[in-house]
Amino acid sequence: MAAASQAVQAPTDAELLQAQADLWRHSLYYLTTMSLKCAVQLGIPTAIHNIGGTASVQDLVTKLSLSQTKLPFLRRVMRLLVTSGIFASDSSGDMETYRLNPLSWLLVEGVDAEDHSNQKCFVLSTLTRHSVEAALSLAEWFKKDMEPPLPSPFEELHGVPLFDHEKTPLLDNELHNLVLQGCAAHDNLAIGTLMRESHDIFRGLQSLTDCCGGDGTTARAITKAHPHIKCAVLDLPEVIKTAPADGVVNYVAGDMFKSVPPSQAVLLKLVLHHWNDEDCVKILVQCRKAIPSKEEGGKVIIVEIVLGPTLGPVMFEAQLLLDMLMMVNTKGRQRDENDWREIFMKAGFSDYKIVKKVGARGVIEVYP
Ligand SMILES: C[S@@+](CC[C@H](N)C(=O)[O-])C[C@H]1O[C@@H](n2cnc3c(N)ncnc32)[C@H](O)[C@@H]1O
Repeated sequence: MAAASQAVQAPTDAELLQAQADLWRHSLYYLTTMSLKCAVQLGIPTAIHNIGGTASVQDLVTKLSLSQTKLPFLRRVMRLLVTSGIFASDSSGDMETYRLNPLSWLLVEGVDAEDHSNQKCFVLSTLTRHSVEAALSLAEWFKKDMEPPLPSPFEELHGVPLFDHEKTPLLDNELHNLVLQGCAAHDNLAIGTLMRESHDIFRGLQSLTDCCGGDGTTARAITKAHPHIKCAVLDLPEVIKTAPADGVVNYVAGDMFKSVPPSQAVLLKLVLHHWNDEDCVKILVQCRKAIPSKEEGGKVIIVEIVLGPTLGPVMFEAQLLLDMLMMVNTKGRQRDENDWREIFMKAGFSDYKIVKKVGARGVIEVYP
């Protein structure tokens, strides 16, 4: 007891009051999250867009056909969301109007712009009842004695893993479809930026396999920017059977744990964070078998978060939250450079280079 009281000095009055306010913020941030979900479910970003880009709370009540009695409540929700940076606002006299900012623009439906990928499903899929319940069960999960390989809190609680084409629909088919749409929205966001920033990485390549390339959105963006690259997309048979036969990309149904179609380079974009280290090594071993030597231009291109504080506290916090999302819902994780190096070397690669930082993510080239 004596040691403990010596270790923590009593805070000053000012520190105590600040600590109390910080505790409120950290305990209640879920209300910001739920207000965001509410705004998305009501369609507020789309309503502001359709009204012409600026809307008063009365405009929103009218546009969304809400009861007039809800007006003061909606104003309170919007005030929190403006303060949290989700919408922008202008005031003149007593009148406050709301505008979209880059974040809420991502939540507008029906925008026809090259770099727009509506993130509504990302918000809704990360905030399903199932995922929130899994997060609420974290302490129970820690206390339980379990043999490795440990199930995620989601799997432990619900009895099936998330993202499993066979098992997740048995729990809730609607959840499974929403999660796939949320994942696609998340993965397709900023593809244009990634292509522009990574132009040099693909230049000179003759062929490329997009491993776990889903419906081919990334592969099509690559062939658009680099028409000479012969692109193949590898994914599971149930995904490939619904892929568009576009005549541009060669769709291959298969299992990356068994083999990856040979090509000069293999792309793993936003794949490995879904898997634990042992599985990442197995996947990378198959990728290494699919490519020629470094001298012949063989490389694996990985687009993933490289955890670290160098991009500033906001980006780092976003990276850490995505790590927690993986921890609660999957067996995967986000990795720092040391973690990446370790799995590259275990998979038999000789070298790697982080060639770009694109937002919170890095583009890593890994050489045989
Ligand atoms: C997170 S998504 C990949 C995102 C995609 N690379 C992108 O950037 O848009 C994961 C994909 O991996 C596929 N997948 C899962 N297990 C696989 C396996 N064993 N072999 C091939 N594809 C697999 C899933 O069907 C899904 O399309």
